[in-house]
Amino acid sequence: MTIKGQATLRTARLELVPLRAEHREFTMKLDMDPEVMKTVAFGRPFTEDEAIQVHTWLMESAQKLPGLGCWAGFSQGDFVGWWILAACPAPDASEGDGPERLIPNKTEYGFRVSPKYWGRGFAKEGAREMVRHAFQDLELDEVIGETMTVNSASRAVMAGSGLKHVDTFFNKYDTPPAGIEEGEVRYKVTRDEWRVAA
Ligand SMILES: CC(C)(COP(=O)(O)OP(=O)(O)OC[C@H]1O[C@@H](n2cnc3c(N)ncnc32)[C@H](O)[C@@H]1OP(=O)(O)O)[C@@H](O)C(=O)NCCC(=O)NCCS
Repeated sequence: MTIKGQATLRTARLELVPLRAEHREFTMKLDMDPEVMKTVAFGRPFTEDEAIQVHTWLMESAQKLPGLGCWAGFSQGDFVGWWILAACPAPDASEGDGPERLIPNKTEYGFRVSPKYWGRGFAKEGAREMVRHAFQDLELDEVIGETMTVNSASRAVMAGSGLKHVDTFFNKYDTPPAGIEEGEVRYKVTRDEWRVAA
C-alpha cells in the first residue's frame, strides 16, 4: 500500500481528522488545564507560549514520515481530544547533527482527552484505532507508548489497546513532576502480536 499523507479515520463514536491550525484552541485548552497535566511533562499546566509550541510540534509530527501525525478527535462535532502517531528518533541520532534520523517502521503513540469526556472509553477507542492504523494501513512493525508509572489511566489505555508493559526507567529532569520517583514505563506491541490478538 502506498501512503501519501495522513488519512482521516473513523471509529464507532469518533471522527479523527488530521490536526490543523484551527484546532489550536482545543489543544491549548488541554495543555493549560492543571488536571490534565498533573502526570504529563512537568506536572503543571503549560504556559500559553508552551501550549503554542506543543501545538506546533503536534502539527509537525505529520511531516516526519508518511502517514504519521496527530489527529483531533470529534464526537458529534464536539472536540474530544487528540491522538498521535509520532516518529521515533534513531537511537544513535543526536540533535543538530544533520537531518533528523528516524526509525521508519516504528511509532510512539500518545493521547490527551478533554476531562468532560474522561471515563467513557474515548481514549481507548482512539488508541485502538491508532494501533490498527499503524499496523493495518501503514504496515509498521511496532507501536510503543510511554507514561509516568503513576499515570494509571494512561497505563490502562495502553493495556486496553493491546500494548504490554516492557520496561520501567528512571530519567533525571531539571524540573521533575510529582510522582516521577516511581519512574516511567514503556509499553509495546508488535504487528505480529497484534495480529494474533485481533
Ligand atoms: C489518560 C486519559 C487519556 C484517559 O482517557 P479516558 O477517555 O478517560 O480513558 P478511557 O475512558 O478510554 O479508559 C480507558 C481505561 O482507563 C481506565 N481509567 C480511566 N481513567 C482512569 C483513572 N483515573 N485511573 C485508573 N484507570 C483509569 C478505564 O477504567 C479504562 O480501563 P479498562 O480498559 O480496563 O476498562 C485521560 O485521563 C487524559 O487525557 N489524561 C491526561 C493526559 C494524559 O495523561 N495523557 C497520557 C499521557 S502519556
